[in-house]
Amino acid sequence: MDQLPGIACSLENKSILVTGSTGFLAKMFVEKVLRIQPNVKRLFLLLRVADAKSAQERLSNEVVGKELFRVLRQKHGECMDSFISDKVTPVAGDVTWENLGISDSNLLEEIWGEVDFIVHSAATTKFDERYDTALNINVLGAKHVLDFAKGCVKLQTLIHVSTAYAAGEKPGIILEKPFKMGETLNGKLSLDIMKELKIVEQGLQDLWAKRATKDEEKLAMKQLGLQRARLHGWPNTYVFTKAMGEMLLGQMRENVPLVIMRPTIVTSTYREPFPGWIEGFRTVDAMMTAYAKAKMTFWACGLEMIVDLIPGDMVVNSMVAAMVAHANQRKEFIYQVGSSRSNPIKGSRVHEYVHRYFSINNPFVDKKGNPIKIRKYAVLTSKHALQWYMLTRYMLPLKGLQVLNIASCRHFQHRYKELNRKIKYLMFLMKLYQPFLFFKGIFDDTNLEKLRMATFKNAADANTFCFDTKCIEWEDYLMNIHIPGALKYAIKS
Ligand SMILES: NC(=O)c1ccc[n+]([C@@H]2O[C@H](COP(=O)([O-])OP(=O)(O)OC[C@H]3O[C@@H](n4cnc5c(N)ncnc54)[C@H](OP(=O)(O)O)[C@@H]3O)[C@@H](O)[C@H]2O)c1
Repeated sequence: MDQLPGIACSLENKSILVTGSTGFLAKMFVEKVLRIQPNVKRLFLLLRVADAKSAQERLSNEVVGKELFRVLRQKHGECMDSFISDKVTPVAGDVTWENLGISDSNLLEEIWGEVDFIVHSAATTKFDERYDTALNINVLGAKHVLDFAKGCVKLQTLIHVSTAYAAGEKPGIILEKPFKMGETLNGKLSLDIMKELKIVEQGLQDLWAKRATKDEEKLAMKQLGLQRARLHGWPNTYVFTKAMGEMLLGQMRENVPLVIMRPTIVTSTYREPFPGWIEGFRTVDAMMTAYAKAKMTFWACGLEMIVDLIPGDMVVNSMVAAMVAHANQRKEFIYQVGSSRSNPIKGSRVHEYVHRYFSINNPFVDKKGNPIKIRKYAVLTSKHALQWYMLTRYMLPLKGLQVLNIASCRHFQHRYKELNRKIKYLMFLMKLYQPFLFFKGIFDDTNLEKLRMATFKNAADANTFCFDTKCIEWEDYLMNIHIPGALKYAIKS
């Protein structure tokens, strides 16, 4: 890859359509563009609402009103509101609809005529999402964005944000290569997206015919998603539908310049706009909090496995660089954005830092202000150990309580029911997360490295658009940036 034209300069007087900007990643993208290129022409932000007034409200409350925009607000001072209204157009819509659900025909024409880049980040990221919802958003949503892109007369690049874990549970080096349409991860059956849509439709018809309640319908749709994902070799509905989204885009893109970004586990900002910003209560952080509150009786994670973490600002920097680098290149390109190849960190080190942070340096305090002592817990380093632990620590005692309950004429009925519910849920969560707790893959990032080298040739860009994970010192980042950031911005909120 040759030297890139100046990245920030390439955004001057350009317009970008962004989906998913009330979410974690796209919000950072919007902030970055507005901060480094105040002369960007316009950002059209597609927000999931019915009308322009609600779009404006969500823009104010859930995008620019966030702490993330603090630096930009300081930069523009009193002119911040006029800067935002000049540069940002909130657009009411929904990716599950054709034309992205944009009903204002004048606005639609304006966007088609004006947009130079599209960044599609909207998705449902719930591992066990209802299958109908996940197909609608992650698969048909991607198709609608592509169809929309085809109508944009000046379009230079379509960035589609996927996930590295669309690769499933593959061990070893996972290459930055596209999915083939119909490919499955277990090679058993071929995958037919139309058939998946029909299965969902039929499933819903059956549920409605049976007059299923809303809760029953939700549960059935969730179970259907997990069942279809596992049938084809994916561990959950989220990554399965993200993989299908990629397949559909690859097959239908014609000559749209398509770049697929596959981030790994996105963590708090490393440097920009300030270190430690994060939003949303994410898996790693949920484990951390449970740990800090001494609620965990075990810590499950392969100690030798590589935990692929990538700070959010680095993901965004790579997205902006890729968007400019691939402008008008009528090819599909894939980037895996992670750290497992270039700067791996093992599960044992993550465990050590979390332990040190919460049990020695910064213990949580209880209601009386006393430091919470981390009690002894089991460290489970393999799937087998986790399953054995679940059986002996939870399932067998539950069985015992069941027998006692029956023998005592249901004297322990309430306790049994409650424990049964909790243990079932824990087992469900463990099954859902197990593939990621003992993940044995390493994400190749050769393409990303080439992009980095191209960015590096311009000293200003190298600094403004840093996504060199080799510069991360994990102990410092986790202990001084990510954990405090997650506690301040994600967990407390
Ligand atoms: N965060 C990570 O660790 C991570 C890792 C790898 C890949 N990714 C990928 O990165 C992208 C962004 O993730 P994120 O963490 O920012 O997710 P997020 O915080 O859950 O945000 C998702 C965004 O998508 C929007 N959205 C969902 N359904 C929509 C619809 N039907 N129409 C329009 N907008 C819709 C949401 O809008 P509402 O506010 O209306 O719900 C929200 O703005 C996703 O594609 C995800 O797969 C994320």
